[in-house]
Amino acid sequence: MDIRLIEIAKRMSSWLGLDAVRHDGRVLPAPHLRLCGQEFRDHAFFLRSARAEADRLVTHCGLSADSALLDVGCGFGRLAIGVLDRVGTIRDYRGVDVSAAAVAWCRRHLAATHPAFHFTRLDVRNQRYNPGGEEITRGFRLPFDDRSFDIAYAYSVFSHMELGDVERYLAELGRVLRPGGWAFVTLFVADEVPDISINPASGALAWQGPLHCVRYRRALIESRMRDAGFTIAQVADGVETDGQSGYYLHRAGT
Ligand SMILES: C[S@@+](CC[C@H](N)C(=O)[O-])C[C@H]1O[C@@H](n2cnc3c(N)ncnc32)[C@H](O)[C@@H]1O
Repeated sequence: MDIRLIEIAKRMSSWLGLDAVRHDGRVLPAPHLRLCGQEFRDHAFFLRSARAEADRLVTHCGLSADSALLDVGCGFGRLAIGVLDRVGTIRDYRGVDVSAAAVAWCRRHLAATHPAFHFTRLDVRNQRYNPGGEEITRGFRLPFDDRSFDIAYAYSVFSHMELGDVERYLAELGRVLRPGGWAFVTLFVADEVPDISINPASGALAWQGPLHCVRYRRALIESRMRDAGFTIAQVADGVETDGQSGYYLHRAGT
């Protein structure tokens, strides 16, 4: 289905009050709104994954009640829901996304009751999620000050973005993170493949539509991470959603 029709369907479900469910004490997006694959349609799986993402940031990136956290491609609030459940409210949480429907949902169901949680729509182009947005050019900036975050997070976002856009976002994460801060990002990477492959043939998974899977040659994307000022501290190789790899990136400098 055309992505614009999907956006309209999402807005209609919101008007009709069909856009959220309660599960185990938490408000979750209704199953048809959930991103990242069929398994997330199960309420328990979705909430478990949200909690696990928050726990990951606590364990590996020092997330605490005093943290400022940037969630790039926040979608329908999976990380924010996990953070509220596991850590509670934090000093500053900022979610950004190109999807107007996702940001509207997060504002309505999360920001309305948690004033430290803010959600901003970025109207930039992503062929999959926001084809009518503005091209991400060399001068692209996230709407945040230098060194204003302790942690940046982008789960299953660079896996749907072309190389130039990933490079600009990495540079921006390097800019908005404080020295000593952490980023966690996931991507599809492999060795001995072309620099970039869009929807590559894969055994079990059938990619559908633009930028469903963007796979990078490992050495290339890791060099871009270093160019943006990051040290690769740890890699969870191939174990994230649909076989993505998770990168724990340390922002060097003083
Ligand atoms: C597969 S979903 C992942 C959502 C969320 N991170 C999660 O793990 O549940 C990818 C998200 O990235 C967003 N996105 C894609 N390109 C983006 C961009 N250039 N800037 C911000 N968000 C973007 C999409 O709108 C979508 O919400």
